[in-house]
Amino acid sequence: MEKIRLLFVCLGNICRSPAAESVMRRLVEDKGLSYLFYINSAGIGAWHTGQLPDKRMRVQGAARGYVFDHRAQQVRHEDFLRYDYLIGMDEENIYDLRRLAGNKDQAEKILCLADYLRKYAGEPTIPDPYYGGTKDFVWALDLIEDACQGLLEKLTDENQCHPFP
Ligand code: 4NP
Repeated sequence: MEKIRLLFVCLGNICRSPAAESVMRRLVEDKGLSYLFYINSAGIGAWHTGQLPDKRMRVQGAARGYVFDHRAQQVRHEDFLRYDYLIGMDEENIYDLRRLAGNKDQAEKILCLADYLRKYAGEPTIPDPYYGGTKDFVWALDLIEDACQGLLEKLTDENQCHPFP
C-alpha cells in the first residue's frame, strides 16, 4: 500500500511546521489511518538544522497533550520527488516552495495550510509566531489544529481512506 506522504513546511522548521507534523500525526492516529500516511516537516532555511522545536511551541503543545520532538531540517528540491504534498504556512513559504519546484507537476504538490481552515476560515495564513509572544504561539496552534482537520478530511475524501480493518 502506497502511503500518502506529507511534508509541512515553514521558514525555520522550529515553530509552525513541526507542530503541524505532530498535530496531523495525532489526527491520523485517532482515525486509525496511520498505516496510510507518512508525515514529516522541513524549513525553507537551514539556520536551525538539528534543533528541537522552539521551547515556546513545545510548551504550548504540551499544554494540549502533544510532544513536539522533531529535529529541524531544510526542505530540498528532492523532496518534491519524495512527497505527495508540500504544505506551506504563509505566502512566503509558498513563494519559496514554488521557486524550488522543478516543474508544473511538482508545483502542483504545493498546498497552503490556511486554505483548509474551517472554524477560522478566512484567515489567510498561519502567521509566524517566532518574533511574537505567548498569544502568537497559542493562535498559531489554534489555526494549525483547525486546518489539519480540514486537510485530513480533504485527503481522506479524495483517497477514499478507511481505517485499517
Ligand atoms: P517557523 O518560525 O518558521 O514557524 O519555524 C521561525 C523560526 C525561526 C526563524 C523564523 C521563523 N528565524 O528567523 O530564525
